[in-house]
Amino acid sequence: DTWPKDVGILALEVYFPAQYVDQTDLEKFNNVEAGKYTVGLGQTRMGFCSVQEDINSLCLTVVQRLMERIKLPWDAVGRLEVGTETIIDKSKAVKTVLMDLFRDSGNTDIEGIDTTNACYGGTASLFNAANWMESSYWDGRYALVVCGDIAVYPNGNARPTGGAGAVAMLIGPKAPLVLEQGLRGTHMENAYDFYKPNLASEYPLVDGKLSIQCYLRALDRCYAAYRKKIQNQWKQAGNNQPFTLDDVQYMIFHTPFCKMVQKSLARLMLSDFLSSGSDTKNDLYKGLEAFRGLKLEETYTNKDVDKALLKASLDMFNKKTKASLYLSTNNGNMYTSSLYGCLASLLAHHSAQELAGSRIGAFSYGSGLAASFFSFRVSKDASPGSPLEKLVSSVSDLPKRLDSRRRMSPEEFTEIMNQREQFFHKVNFSPPGDTSNLFPGTWYLERVDEMHRRKYARRP
Ligand code: HMG
Repeated sequence: DTWPKDVGILALEVYFPAQYVDQTDLEKFNNVEAGKYTVGLGQTRMGFCSVQEDINSLCLTVVQRLMERIKLPWDAVGRLEVGTETIIDKSKAVKTVLMDLFRDSGNTDIEGIDTTNACYGGTASLFNAANWMESSYWDGRYALVVCGDIAVYPNGNARPTGGAGAVAMLIGPKAPLVLEQGLRGTHMENAYDFYKPNLASEYPLVDGKLSIQCYLRALDRCYAAYRKKIQNQWKQAGNNQPFTLDDVQYMIFHTPFCKMVQKSLARLMLSDFLSSGSDTKNDLYKGLEAFRGLKLEETYTNKDVDKALLKASLDMFNKKTKASLYLSTNNGNMYTSSLYGCLASLLAHHSAQELAGSRIGAFSYGSGLAASFFSFRVSKDASPGSPLEKLVSSVSDLPKRLDSRRRMSPEEFTEIMNQREQFFHKVNFSPPGDTSNLFPGTWYLERVDEMHRRKYARRP
């Protein structure tokens, strides 16, 4: 039996709201010190949705845009998975709403349903799609993986870490971004760092400091598990080299806020340093000698370690990760779609030639908690018209699209957040507002009837 070759991401599409609030405006509005959000968190702008948008409309938009752009017939899809933590119905999946898009094609033979665990649902969906394709149940058709979320927090220190968006990915064989087989390092545990027990509200409960520690611990564990697996693969091929960040040309992370990611890359460097032999004299680790012998789990809140690591890893950060944060710093946390928005940003800021043949490491984290470290191998062919070149050029307009959004004042943003609170789960109503604050081609919520049935329309 042969598996389909090179299963991975063939095409992707990113959606974000057409309006944002500037983080310097928010700093002033919230009466916090200048730099707290922009430097402390590394955030520049935050996208947000009006009451006319919900998780269904976001996913409808991103799937339709992808299918129209790549001109794939709707019956060429055999699986569609949705990863989201923006739950508006405890039973009915977003996937069922997306089936409306397939109606005219008559294609109803489409496996897959929604997957939820905080920001990890998108990655779980991606893994499910790839697993299907490498199983006896695969029928030869493509899979679509959709992740999307509306990340909103109540007034307070977490609010500037919100955002909203969705990413749709076409999964298939002979992909330019191949999921590397056998290489997933996973860590799962029971934690109450961020969760949504209040079903009458869009807002999570969050223990910010604990969530950061949980994220970093999960990163340590996943990286160690991944390292072990790749070294085992190498050993079987006769290579006894240790695996380090040198073997990863680009590194993307789930991004709750950009500063967290810079610290995370630095942490992987520490992990490499601590697991390397004590006789290692590597210029790369200059400034870290004092920390030899430390245990990773003793360093979560050590500011001296933080400072030395950020300095030692700066060059590596600029080369491997910084470009991937473009969408995150300009739009905020998109929860399940955050990691895949980072992937799109990375592709938007490099040429196909630069990316060809490289390995992209990926860390996915969802509170509660579920996390994985995995990797993509980029195809070597970057010639004009190649799948890689097509993928890269399809996202090159990302900066221009972000710049075309409308800047809203913190007052307007707060008013819209208040409206979202007021209208959450309201029945028998049509959301107020006109559609001029939506990009052309965006689906929006037209009406919720007295039985909570939702009806959508598409802006021309
Ligand atoms: P806070 O109260 O703003 O924290 O909350 P802070 O006072 O510690 O400030 C943050 C940083 O800004 C600090 O940097 C300050 O020094 C710095 P650090 O010392 O840590 O390096 N700072 C300044 N820098 C420059 N100029 C200034 C200034 N003032 C302060 N003037 C917190 C921050 C992230 C906790 C909060 O926003 C929060 O709770 N956010 C939500 C939770 C979150 O994002 N957690 C991240 C990990 S968990 C995760 O990723 C999962 C998640 O995506 C959910 C899911 O899975 O679905 C959230």
